[in-house]
Amino acid sequence: MCGIVGYIGKQETLPILIEGIKRLEYRGYDSAGIAVINDKGELIIHKRSGKIVEMEKTLPDEKNFNSCLGIAHTRWATHGEPSTTNAHPHLDCENKIAIVHNGIIENYKVLKKNLQNEGHKFNTDTDTEVLAHLIEEVYDKINDFHKAVNEALKLVEGTYGLVVISKDEPQKIIAARKGSPLIIGVGEEENYIASDVAALVVHTKNVIYLKDNETAEITKDSFKIRTLANESVAPIVKKINWDISMIEKGDFDYFMQKEIYEQPDSIENAFRGRLNDELNTARLGGVHLNPEQLENIKQIVIVACGTSWHAGLVGEYMIESMARIPVKVQYASEFRYRDPIIDHKTLVISISQSGETADTLAAIREAREKGAKVMGITNVIGSTIARETDFGSYIHAGAEIGVASTKAFTSQLTVLFLLGWMLGRMRLLTPEIGAKYGDELKKIPEKVTEIISYNDYIKEIVEASPIPENALYLGRGINYPVALEGALKLKEISYIHAEGYPAAEMKHGPIALIDENMPVIFIAPDDYVYDKILSNIEEVRARKGKVIAITNKSCDGIKDMADHVIFIPKTISLLSPLLTVIPLQLLSLHYALAKGCDVDQPRNLAKSVTVE
Ligand code: AGP
Repeated sequence: MCGIVGYIGKQETLPILIEGIKRLEYRGYDSAGIAVINDKGELIIHKRSGKIVEMEKTLPDEKNFNSCLGIAHTRWATHGEPSTTNAHPHLDCENKIAIVHNGIIENYKVLKKNLQNEGHKFNTDTDTEVLAHLIEEVYDKINDFHKAVNEALKLVEGTYGLVVISKDEPQKIIAARKGSPLIIGVGEEENYIASDVAALVVHTKNVIYLKDNETAEITKDSFKIRTLANESVAPIVKKINWDISMIEKGDFDYFMQKEIYEQPDSIENAFRGRLNDELNTARLGGVHLNPEQLENIKQIVIVACGTSWHAGLVGEYMIESMARIPVKVQYASEFRYRDPIIDHKTLVISISQSGETADTLAAIREAREKGAKVMGITNVIGSTIARETDFGSYIHAGAEIGVASTKAFTSQLTVLFLLGWMLGRMRLLTPEIGAKYGDELKKIPEKVTEIISYNDYIKEIVEASPIPENALYLGRGINYPVALEGALKLKEISYIHAEGYPAAEMKHGPIALIDENMPVIFIAPDDYVYDKILSNIEEVRARKGKVIAITNKSCDGIKDMADHVIFIPKTISLLSPLLTVIPLQLLSLHYALAKGCDVDQPRNLAKSVTVE
């Protein structure tokens, strides 16, 4: 989604802004722009549709900027086509005020009409331009920039993370947040503002998370925070625990590749310090429920989107199997509109890598309103979901920059496993079974390392046949959601159409698609449904489909049935998705690279979807 960076201080602004928005490229965008006020007090705007490098190429000589204050933006179109005109920053009538904005102004049509009646002239199709004119209108009357932004925003319905500068007050940046994240980076004689810590981490680790309905006036050595109702708020400076290596590719060519390879560590980080070897259980410090409350949970509802939703589906198997508590998994976007049946005996678990997904956030609010306790499983520390849930557990995967989620998925599975195991031990799981779970979990990172070492073999499989136009992913039981995840990964980064199904469902429809051009990827570990899957493989072979099977070394009979077999180490069924998904991630990576696709920034996608 859109990205924002702002700077005020002692350094030349332009390189900081450009570097900052480049750090946010991974979020997805279609155009980029900057606004700076130079030492002559001129407001300079530069924007272009397309990639940031395109904008850079057309910049006037950098030295001419001489500016220590500026804002920048990457836009992901919502209102108005992706174009240079619609790119941010947007201006008021007098070209004095420049604004960049993430989010959606829902009542922009009414506001626009009123402003046009007052004589304002509009140049773009965006909702954001309305904000520039609205602030201008109020500012002209009250002549206090910060207050004018506050007053203008009281008239606005919708969501925003926005940053505004004015030629008339060139020593300050005004920022405001409602529903779209903004973080102030605190420096010495300089301050930053960004929509994502990835843009700040090279400059400072001291940050202030703006909350909804707060606005900030930032100068080079101060920041005043107020609520929309004009009450002043004491800023709380927090330390971020990211370092620069997390947001750089290092020895890898792509972030997605780096993140796939990081999984032995990221999985271990998700369970490190959370194993209680004495009681053979997990210890999730963030789960603030007493034993009585935990035991009283009558149902669990998991809400999430995309890959996180797939993690939820695996979590359903894990928790039901270990704790025998009924679990439902719902798309967050559907949950909020279906008047869900939940009460104080329901534990709602929201899963989100970014912690900013608008639909998941709305589902959380709906659940809390209905009296449920909500747990958050998130990656980004201090994110909105982490703050708006009653309690939660971080997955500690580190920065995930590739748009296609990989390491966050396996870390989410790890935390869901810990949760199911912990709930199970509080109910009916014996210490012996608990001990076995702990032992198996500890072996997972090493097994993931082994699977990653098959990378070249997986690449050969991709190169062995023409690139397909379609693919089918089939799995059963706890590996059915892995089939969905494999198909999503392939779609997202290679644009190959792919579907995931429970293997037995194939004969109820998808079998009609199978011919010699259709690769069918079977996830068939050596478990209680293995024999059933073999029959499904036969059905595909009988129709000349190409079979790629992922199975365990103990199942070498499958070699005669499949075109390609990827043998992976064995684990218990409940942990098998942590292993079976790795070859699928590598398969999609190599298909995408073979097609020449941009794996880190696939078309049309955004890393965190902060609009409904
Ligand atoms: C994952 O590869 C996707 N890009 C996407 O489906 C993502 O999982 C979804 O948008 C949810 O994001 P979240 O985990 O940050 O809430």
